[in-house]
Amino acid sequence: MDVFVVGAGGLLGGNVVTTAVNRALSVAGSYHSGRPDFEIPLRELDVRASKDFEELVAKFSPSVVVNCAAMTDVNECEKRPERAHEINADAPEAMAC
Ligand SMILES: NC(=O)c1ccc[n+]([C@@H]2O[C@H](COP(=O)([O-])OP(=O)(O)OC[C@H]3O[C@@H](n4cnc5c(N)ncnc54)[C@H](OP(=O)(O)O)[C@@H]3O)[C@@H](O)[C@H]2O)c1
Repeated sequence: MDVFVVGAGGLLGGNVVTTAVNRALSVAGSYHSGRPDFEIPLRELDVRASKDFEELVAKFSPSVVVNCAAMTDVNECEKRPERAHEINADAPEAMAC
């Protein structure tokens, strides 16, 4: 597997998937609440579940992981700063380790 796209259901993630597929790369990905309409292997993932992420990496063994998942609603981030920190800071840190 060439690329694993975390957050394939989002705007950036969808574009990364499309670009990779158009370049004939092998691609798999994960989505959060809404399964995107791509004909690639897709798994549901909450990025706060780092063990689940590790299992997907072990399963697909990608050369590259692109993390496009994020809590992007700024007002929601202000209302729920702990959740924002978990998704936008803790999860990417855990993925990188
Ligand atoms: N769009 C741009 O032009 C642009 C430019 C520069 C940088 N960026 C950065 O790129 C990243 C993605 O932006 P975007 O525009 O693609 O945002 P987006 O469309 O809101 O996509 C974010 C994705 O993250 C998912 N997500 C949220 N919480 C999650 C969780 N706990 N576990 C797993 N996935 C989760 C969302 O899924 P659900 O909706 O199902 O929760 C959604 O699919 C952000 O860091 C943003 O700052 C974007």
